[in-house]
Amino acid sequence: MSANAEMVARAAEMVRAKIGGEISTALILGSGLGGLADRVEDAVSIPYRAIPGFPPSSVPGHAGRFVAGTLGARRVIVAAGRYHLYEGHSTETVALPTRVLHACGVRTLFVSNAAGGINRTMRPGELMIIEDHLNLMSRTPLVGPERAGEMRFPDMSAPYDAALNRALREAALESGLAITSGVYAALLGPAYETPAEIRMLEKLGADAVGMSTVPEVLVARALGMRVAGVSCITNVAAGLSNTPLSHAAVLETTARVAASFERLVTAFVQRIA
Ligand code: HPA
Repeated sequence: MSANAEMVARAAEMVRAKIGGEISTALILGSGLGGLADRVEDAVSIPYRAIPGFPPSSVPGHAGRFVAGTLGARRVIVAAGRYHLYEGHSTETVALPTRVLHACGVRTLFVSNAAGGINRTMRPGELMIIEDHLNLMSRTPLVGPERAGEMRFPDMSAPYDAALNRALREAALESGLAITSGVYAALLGPAYETPAEIRMLEKLGADAVGMSTVPEVLVARALGMRVAGVSCITNVAAGLSNTPLSHAAVLETTARVAASFERLVTAFVQRIA
C-alpha cells in the first residue's frame, strides 16, 4: 500500500470506529456554512486534529471536524471545515477528507462553498447550484501514481449529478427558496481576483468564483461518487461594484444566508435518501 493509501485507511478506521458503521451521504461545508453541523442530531463529533494524518485547519470560519448523526431523520456525515491549497496544504491533504469519507462508505457527496458572483444577475445571498466547473487552480489531487480504486482518467463530462441537481431544485422549491445554477471557477487564491481577472473569467463562461471545492470533486469523481454542490454567493466579484472584498464581508453574508442554506440542505438530504 502507498503511504497515502495507508494514511487514508488509518484515518478511515478511526472515523468508522467512532461513528459506528458506514454512512452513505456526506456534506462538505464551506466558509461560514459550518453551522449546519450544529443541526445534526445524535451527533458524534470528531475534530480533524484527533484523526491520524489530518493537520490542523487554519482559516477563521472553518472549524475542522467531522460530525456524524442524523439530519432530517437521515444518517449523514458532515465535514465542517476543509483544507485549502492556499493554506499551503498539498493536494493530498486537501483531498484527504474526501478519500476518508469514501473509505467510510460515502457514495453521495454534497459540496458547498462561499463564492463571488460574476454573472451580473447574481446578488449577495443567492444560492447557486454548481452545474459545472472550471479548474483554474493549476493543481489536481489526481496526479501521481495510480491509486487503487481511483480511475486513472475519470470522465468529467457530467461531474455534477443531474438527479441530485433535480433534488436540489425540488428542495429549494419546497423550502420556498430561490436558487440559480451556474459554472463555478476555482482559483488558487488566496488573493481575491483583480477586475481584469473577473472580466477574463466572465469570458470563459464562469458565473461564480472561489478557492475550493474542485479538488474534492475531482477525487470524488475518480472514486465514482455522485456529487452535487451549491455556492453561496457572498459578494459581487471584484470590479463589478465599488465595494472592496473582505473575508469579513464574506462571513457576514454566509451568516445571513445560513438558515436558508440549512433548510435547503436538510430538505435535499431527505429527498435523496
Ligand atoms: N473570489 C474568490 N473567492 C471567494 C470570493 C470571491 O469574490 N467570495 C468568496 N470566496
